[in-house]
Amino acid sequence: MLTGGELIMEQKLLVRQNGDEKEINCIKGDNLLEVLLNNGYEISTYCGGQGVCGKCKVKISSGVKELDEKEEKYLTNEEINEGIRLACKTEITGNMVVELEDSEDIEVMTSGLIRKADIDIEYNKDTIKLKKATIDDQKDYLKRVYDNLSLENINYNSLKILGEMDKKETFTVTSKEGKIIEILKNNNNLLYGVAIDIGTTTIVLYLMDLKTGREIDVFSLYNPQKKFGADVISRINYTIKNETGAEELKNLLLDNINKSIKELADRNNISLNDIYKITIVGNTIMLHTLFGIKAESIAKSPYIPQFTDAMEFDTEEIGVNINNKGIIHILPSISGYVGADIIGDLLAVNFLSYSDGYNLMIDIGTNGEIVLGNSKNVISCSAAAGPAFEGANITFGMAGIPGAISEFKFNKNNEIEYKTIGNKEPKGICGSGLLDIIAELYRVNIIKSSGAFVAEEEMEDWQKEFMTVYKEIKAFKITTADKTAGAKDILLTQKDIREVQLAKGAIAAGIEILRKELDINYDDFDNVFIAGGFGNYLDPHNACVIKMIPEELEEKIVQIGNGAGTGAKLYLLDKKMKETTGILKNILKYIELSINQDFQVEYINNMGF
Ligand code: FES
Repeated sequence: MLTGGELIMEQKLLVRQNGDEKEINCIKGDNLLEVLLNNGYEISTYCGGQGVCGKCKVKISSGVKELDEKEEKYLTNEEINEGIRLACKTEITGNMVVELEDSEDIEVMTSGLIRKADIDIEYNKDTIKLKKATIDDQKDYLKRVYDNLSLENINYNSLKILGEMDKKETFTVTSKEGKIIEILKNNNNLLYGVAIDIGTTTIVLYLMDLKTGREIDVFSLYNPQKKFGADVISRINYTIKNETGAEELKNLLLDNINKSIKELADRNNISLNDIYKITIVGNTIMLHTLFGIKAESIAKSPYIPQFTDAMEFDTEEIGVNINNKGIIHILPSISGYVGADIIGDLLAVNFLSYSDGYNLMIDIGTNGEIVLGNSKNVISCSAAAGPAFEGANITFGMAGIPGAISEFKFNKNNEIEYKTIGNKEPKGICGSGLLDIIAELYRVNIIKSSGAFVAEEEMEDWQKEFMTVYKEIKAFKITTADKTAGAKDILLTQKDIREVQLAKGAIAAGIEILRKELDINYDDFDNVFIAGGFGNYLDPHNACVIKMIPEELEEKIVQIGNGAGTGAKLYLLDKKMKETTGILKNILKYIELSINQDFQVEYINNMGF
């Protein structure tokens, strides 16, 4: 309703994508990025709309506005002339037409090492028919149920239902830890659970049959919180600046988890009532946001989380829509920066089964979490690798979605050969491609061990052909685009190489600090497990060429895929995993690298190739 003197100008925003058009009503002054996100469009927002990542570019074909000063840093003259702007820096001031790149389906690493689980769950569900009562057999009906199923306790509600049941009928009894919690007239013994891995970027949900241990289906989605920033610190900052921020993050996450569980149930013709158990892994900050708890204390020294223990909740307490007698298990974390996802990785490889040699576990995301040890002595740290391998801070960096260059090499004729995800036209570079490109440029002497490009006068002629300049920074041309088709060259700049050096230097230094702490040699390592999406696609040889992982360990690398998800599934199927994670939590020590005297030295030592 308009009040005295107040005028609200309604504007029309037309959005074109995938051949479709959608008209959205906006108000003058609305932020373009917010409008697009609120209407369900997928836009890269690594910095959460702060205008400092340059990833939220959109093409405005009508109603383009004057350039914001900050935007110039991220846009080439060509882009400016084409009407490309940063959505987060664009205010809607009039009717506008926006063209978005065709959307691509998310590709999430959902598979992981297969470790056979013992099936040992706290729930039982059986359909029974009681033997006809006779005058000679005076056993009460409840005792008959108990004897039939070897149970000895019942909740009040089930007792009432039993009292009203026709005892001639078959009925289904569900028990938990020996106590009857549900009696139903229908005949079904179905017992399902969902293991959930909440990553900062993506969420994966596995629907599991708790009776057979079979994985029925998997569903993955982007973490909806990414609109508040790609990294955990941006999200914490959002909760600091906005009074209701923590609650917003929680609601967004829970809402999407509930929708995803429903999607899994619907497409497999399963009732939500037949899902009884959920296990959740995630980094410590994601678990805080799941509960609507501010994780501000993790972002500043001494980096103390609000909680790290394993926890169990009734479904209704948390607001997850499955059977209301169901249970939610949250796996334990170790510290603010070594979370329950890493505990999941360790369960996946049965880390405690190794008692002699030492095993290294590396999970590379925005942080590189590293664990080294065996069943007697195990230590961990978190190296602030930054989001370079997830595409942020890299000029043509992007997530691992179709169109991302994921593999790269020079053939023997010194020609470039690359692959893109989905064999699509190249749009940018994802983490594994970035690592390949840098390893190859180093191998053929286009970059030096310091990371700097070799001076052009020292390059061979074929090498010079690839060199160019991007916004006054030296760059290597990976693809030469057909400009008539509106495509762009894809480049790797000197600044991008520095970003990768910072990321890989942190991981290499973390490994070295842990090795020194345990006073062991590389010969003492049995396996180097690499977990996570990027870890699964990277070329282990090239990871050693750029010295992210010591070359002595190359032969020991085992890529385990989504170890966190595998761990969550094991915890779902086998209640003994609670004890195993309890042992891990007790023996796993955490080393805070930011106050470690040797870390800065190792970091600088490990920056080169
Ligand atoms: Fe717009 Fe980062 S620059 S979201």
